[in-house]
Amino acid sequence: MSAPESAEKLSMHVDPTERAWIRASIVILVVFAVSVTIAGFMLGIQVPTTEQRVNPQTVQDALPWSEPGVREIVAGEQYDVYIVSKRFFYEPGTIEVPAGAEVTFYVTSTDVQHGFKIGDTNVNFMVIPGQVSTLTHTFDDPGTYDYICTEYCGLGHAVMFGSVTVTP
Ligand code: CUA
Repeated sequence: MSAPESAEKLSMHVDPTERAWIRASIVILVVFAVSVTIAGFMLGIQVPTTEQRVNPQTVQDALPWSEPGVREIVAGEQYDVYIVSKRFFYEPGTIEVPAGAEVTFYVTSTDVQHGFKIGDTNVNFMVIPGQVSTLTHTFDDPGTYDYICTEYCGLGHAVMFGSVTVTP
């Protein structure tokens, strides 16, 4: 009588420490889920995404990549920017957008892997030949923001940069 009873008790037993950690793990998961939701939907923090796949050999044969640069979608409010990364420069090397506008960057490479980081912003991603990387940013303050290559791409890596001029 007593043997099966004690076996049942044994199988049901959860150590208090283990129970505490199971609860802590659930709390941590909830905290993470809430943090990610706040970061994504309230703070607007984005993960760089692969917009599309392209052929790096032929990508510049057609629009928009044959004429990289700024496209005005809504004057003063919304702009698309197409930038081609090459050893060891960006095409175009300078762009101009107005302050307060929503600017979406589309960046690709025709040769090797590069980086794309705009100073004083959260725009920072890898540029991989065959892919288009994209992020959206709103420049609130007028000024000059340099974009630099953050992935070693060869001897000229250190001089690979461009700049965004944000006008009032
Ligand atoms: Cu391009 Cu480093």
